[in-house]
Amino acid sequence: MDATIVILDGDGIGPEVTAEAKKILAVVADRFGHGFAFDHQIIGGGAIDQFGTSLPEETLAAAAAAEAVLLGAVGGPKWDGPDSPDRPERGVLALRKGLDLFANLRPVKLQPQLLSASSIKEEVLEGVDLLVVRELTGGIYFGDRKEPDDNFEAYDTMLYTRPEIDRVVRLAADSAMERKRKIASVDKANVLASSRLWRGVATEALADYPELEVEHILVDAMAMHLIRRPADFDVIVAGNLFGDILTDEASMLAGSMGMLPSASLGDVNNRHNLPLGLYEPIHGSAPDIAGQGIANPLAAILSCAMLLRYSLGLDEEAAVVESAVDAVLAMGVRTPDIAQPGTESAGTEVLGDLVAQEVRGA
Ligand code: IPM
Ligand code: MG
Repeated sequence: MDATIVILDGDGIGPEVTAEAKKILAVVADRFGHGFAFDHQIIGGGAIDQFGTSLPEETLAAAAAAEAVLLGAVGGPKWDGPDSPDRPERGVLALRKGLDLFANLRPVKLQPQLLSASSIKEEVLEGVDLLVVRELTGGIYFGDRKEPDDNFEAYDTMLYTRPEIDRVVRLAADSAMERKRKIASVDKANVLASSRLWRGVATEALADYPELEVEHILVDAMAMHLIRRPADFDVIVAGNLFGDILTDEASMLAGSMGMLPSASLGDVNNRHNLPLGLYEPIHGSAPDIAGQGIANPLAAILSCAMLLRYSLGLDEEAAVVESAVDAVLAMGVRTPDIAQPGTESAGTEVLGDLVAQEVRGA
């Protein structure tokens, strides 16, 4: 299969992890006889420095024309000033919005080898395998706002419409049908009007899925249940901000943010009639460790597996990449974020090379 994959390194550890991910995609192409063309474009802080904007038009156009987009991470202290007219994060938000990628899929599966890397008790973690579906192009991220220009008053608006809620809840419900047939819809309906709409629309949409076990859970309670009984959940669907917060929390179930991939999908189809998707690790640009070669590349590599599966329809190839990651973890090789305290750890490239070797030979 031929495919164009746009690579957006971003800032901080972004280029380090995308380099390893690209290595894996190249090995997959080689082994399975695919023609992947990599189109490097620029986004985030680097784009602000070079072009004065966090999302150059050329980047958006290239992404829209590609089969899939792989992103490292954006941001850093250099662009964090309170008066910055543009921010690296705006580039990512504009890309998600510009491509109408309304559903962000964040699977959290505990790798048995990493049980002890989590700060949560092993018996609570047993069997954790959940998927958070986060609404990505609406809510408080995109509502009307007032910046704190006067240093006195500022606001953001959490606005949702029926179609925005309906489409993401249905996508989550479809995913649940393929999994353990359970769905938990998250809101704050006891306080927020937008959440009361969310709950009503979600209830109506989910009535079309009688086979699903449905729960509606308030976001604060969900934050607690995620730690207390994480193995009870299958698909969790949430608005943009709640999903953002809950997925950082959920990443701790898997041991490290450095392990979790994500896929952002919309209705837009690529030339293979599959959803154009943006694939990114859920971790940030980690400026504190950038340039040291110690970032965990596994979230970026696992994002490639999602890319192969959702945007290219290459299920076997995706499974090969996932098994390769398992195999490397089973060897006991770890970046510092998942290494046992007091044990030796390996660097970004070492992990990438080992995964590549497994993919090549598996
Ligand atoms: C994420 C990140 C982003 C978000 C930032 C970088 C804008 O935290 O992908 O979870 O808030 O969506
Ligand atoms: Mg986040």
